[in-house]
Amino acid sequence: MPDEFARAESAAQFLLSQTSLRPRIGLVLGSGLGAFADELSEAKRVPYAQIPAFPHSTAVGHAGNMVIGKAGRISVAAMQGRVHLYEGYSPQEVAFPTRVLRRMGVRALILTNAAGGINLEYKQGALVVVTDHINLQGYNPLVGPNEERFGERFPDMTQAYWKPYRDIVLEEAGKLGKSAYQGVYAGLLGPSYETPAEIRYLRAIGADLVGMSTVPEVIAARHMGMRVLAISCVTNMAAGILDQPIHHAEVLETGERVKGDFVALLRAVLPRIAGDVGQD
Ligand code: HPA
Repeated sequence: MPDEFARAESAAQFLLSQTSLRPRIGLVLGSGLGAFADELSEAKRVPYAQIPAFPHSTAVGHAGNMVIGKAGRISVAAMQGRVHLYEGYSPQEVAFPTRVLRRMGVRALILTNAAGGINLEYKQGALVVVTDHINLQGYNPLVGPNEERFGERFPDMTQAYWKPYRDIVLEEAGKLGKSAYQGVYAGLLGPSYETPAEIRYLRAIGADLVGMSTVPEVIAARHMGMRVLAISCVTNMAAGILDQPIHHAEVLETGERVKGDFVALLRAVLPRIAGDVGQD
């Protein structure tokens, strides 16, 4: 079997052969947040199942398409849906689409996710710019021999979430008259939601949000020197905060409710990130 680098390269070449666009910005659209990709122009939609070596999602709410298209003037490669560790994929498989985006020429990665709100200032539907993460998944996609063509053995994570991009989101949200929060994302394995005791623990160690994704992609992206922005949608308050159970349906409904705000924010942010990565 070809190595991971060769597989990422051939998936990237396959995707580039489907379009004349050459995006330098990649997006990963999480649970219920895939709407953004439906509005792209000149769009080429490729189901993950058709991309060589690409893992495909089984989670409800994850469409499983790579959509290469334009948001206004800006070319993007948008992933509608991702795979998760809790589905049984290896950390390397979960990180593989990020590898492919980089091999396609993507330099800035925008990740979105649904998350539980731990910080009591958040409300359901709040958009939160991730400032940092705490990896409690018990996995790291870089375990194993290091692939030097991707990056170095011990990548720095001090600015995993690129500060200038975070500032852009806060500014653009303000211009749109929306408040965006900032917070630390705790990545857990799932798939069960947390217990109230786990949420109290996560709050005590400095987490504002909890979710089951994003961390492997960010680690792989930083390994390859990509600049990362992550935005969480607080689809529910975390376990034990409200006197009610958490349902996946609620997570999807909240994603559906905020999608207008979310798409507007992404559209406002993209031209400024495009300027940073030299996208025309
Ligand atoms: N916990 C973990 N992951 C999540 C949650 C949650 O409460 N909501 C959406 N994704």
